[in-house]
Amino acid sequence: MLKIELPGKRKRGRPKRRFMDVVREDMQFLCLHSQCLILNLLVLKCLQARYLENKFYTNAGCTLVAVNPFKPVPSLYTLKLMMEYHKAPQLQYLRPHIFTSAEQAYRNVQSQMEPINQSLIVSGESGAGKTWTSRCLMKFYATVAVSSSLKAHDTVERIERRVLDSNPVMEAFGNACTLWNNNSSRFGKYIQLQLNRSQQLVGASIQTYLLEKTRVANQPVNERNFHIFYQITKGATEDERLKWNLPCNSLFTWLPNTERTLEEDCFEVTKQAMLHLGISSETQNQIFKVNKDIPVSIHLFIYLFD
Ligand SMILES: Nc1ncnc2c1ncn2[C@@H]1O[C@H](COP(=O)(O)OP(=O)(O)OP(=O)(O)O)[C@@H](O)[C@H]1O
Ligand SMILES: [Mg+2]
Repeated sequence: MLKIELPGKRKRGRPKRRFMDVVREDMQFLCLHSQCLILNLLVLKCLQARYLENKFYTNAGCTLVAVNPFKPVPSLYTLKLMMEYHKAPQLQYLRPHIFTSAEQAYRNVQSQMEPINQSLIVSGESGAGKTWTSRCLMKFYATVAVSSSLKAHDTVERIERRVLDSNPVMEAFGNACTLWNNNSSRFGKYIQLQLNRSQQLVGASIQTYLLEKTRVANQPVNERNFHIFYQITKGATEDERLKWNLPCNSLFTWLPNTERTLEEDCFEVTKQAMLHLGISSETQNQIFKVNKDIPVSIHLFIYLFD
């Protein structure tokens, strides 16, 4: 049996033997050497030991386990690091990272005969980091899968920008603050990134499913409605309030916990992203304008489902 000793729990007099010395970078070792009898505890200890060393990604066979650091780690997502993974001759020698999975899928597309599709499934409990990881993947492809030719530059820039701008819009209309996660996605999504024969990003589509529609009319205690409603009621300018018939400083029964201000309450970001996605200011006015003859509750539904 493999005895595990976590850093800081070493008994006096015994040689310093870090768990990582035994397990190396990667849980594949455990799969091979315990004939796939991986004990839950062992896996958790491994993840814990790596977490304590600020290693938030671990390979487990062909699966990548990502542990939420619950703190900003900018050095883990730099452009330089992205390019390092993209240009690495042999990915297996680099540290486990979401960029490894992204790059591997990209290389699979490049190396195989058409038609070839690759899927990356991101799953986990609420707050685990699925949305974060999806954003990282989209950022990665929007960075590496672009043409260097000047001619294509404008189009490509527009496409990669649109791909990335789909996130704030989707999150404004489909995410809400819950007990577990201030930015909890209340829907599932299937994102398809389309590449041309030269493996350049040429388009994207998103299908959403299982949107938690009941949240519009009923929110659990200490949770909030969808971000977009708070963004509008808190972030509309005086001009916009007049144009959209929005009363000032009103309290809405269906918008509880308004006093909590989150970084997700940024209406300006949503409006800009909508513009980049081709939703003009005029169309935005139509979306956000409150018709005085329709009850606000109906408007909430219209915003969300129209
Ligand atoms: N790799 C990371 N680095 C830094 N912060 C992270 C990372 N992953 C997640 N987080 C933090 O954890 C929070 C929750 O993550 P995220 O919203 O991605 O969870 P989720 O799995 O999508 O949850 P839900 O199922 O509720 O939508 C993020 O807002 C972010 O602050
Ligand atoms: Mg999410």
